[in-house]
Amino acid sequence: MKYAVIGDIHGNAPALRLVLDDARVHHVDGYLLAGDYCISAPWANDVITVLRQLPNAHVIRGNDENHLDLPNNDDGQFEASRWCARSLSADNKAWLDALPEELSFSCQGVPVRMAHASTVFLGKALHASFRTSVLPGRFPHKPLSHEDLLADFRRLMTQDETCRSAVSALDAGVYVFAHNHIQTHGCFDGRWLVNPGSCGLPLDCGDFAACYTLLTIDGGHVQVEERRIPYDVEALIARVKTTSHYQEARVWSEIIFSEWRTCREKVSFFLTLTEEYANRIGDPRRPFARDTWQAAYEEWLTAAPLRWPELFVR
Ligand SMILES: [Fe+2]
Repeated sequence: MKYAVIGDIHGNAPALRLVLDDARVHHVDGYLLAGDYCISAPWANDVITVLRQLPNAHVIRGNDENHLDLPNNDDGQFEASRWCARSLSADNKAWLDALPEELSFSCQGVPVRMAHASTVFLGKALHASFRTSVLPGRFPHKPLSHEDLLADFRRLMTQDETCRSAVSALDAGVYVFAHNHIQTHGCFDGRWLVNPGSCGLPLDCGDFAACYTLLTIDGGHVQVEERRIPYDVEALIARVKTTSHYQEARVWSEIIFSEWRTCREKVSFFLTLTEEYANRIGDPRRPFARDTWQAAYEEWLTAAPLRWPELFVR
């Protein structure tokens, strides 16, 4: 049985199309969908429509599926989430709402467990070093090759005592998770950890690509192949700019453009800067009001590259 493991599509239908075409070429039998289908790129409704038609799909929800039922405020902070929620058909929204947080099944006697975040399986062990707000600081001066990233992941899982004991506490089997947008995999004494990275918003400090992973379970044996399909980031950005999402959620879109161009996370740093800015001007409104959100973005453009140069390495 060969699965395409796909996570963190984030509304990026062009990336999903590349991944599904590649998966068909590799004759997959089914799909493991690891959550975060919406928010950030403007094609969530198209993405969900396509995903619902995939055969033999095991599907869980991600944390961004919980950000689609916001009160109808006029803040700036959640403008992208609100636009996304409005764009979803009632059928597609109901499908998302019914997704489970986790699921388990057996494939040819091999137990497979799925959850959006590694913390469900490993606690905070991996999260401490392998989250996107930390990775750029650990690799500040260079684009990170995927080989170096995988070596770092495997060193951590075998040499860091917290990670080692977390993985050894698991039963043998396959553990699929996503969430940190960092593509990795490894087998540690019969426990396979598989993170397909992000299909639509890679943040692993490497090359811009539509990422997913092939997982084959055959006769009780497990095989993993990571796939990274390069495509044109500027063409993608040009397409987003033609949409009403870009008009209505311009700050969020521009931050995502910057993340696409560098494959380095920016949102959490922008929220830090915006909190500082709002406090400085004495604005207590939360979520951040539209005027404060936009003014903080103007400050971000000049302040962030000086304060966090590691986020802008290309
Ligand atoms: Fe995500």
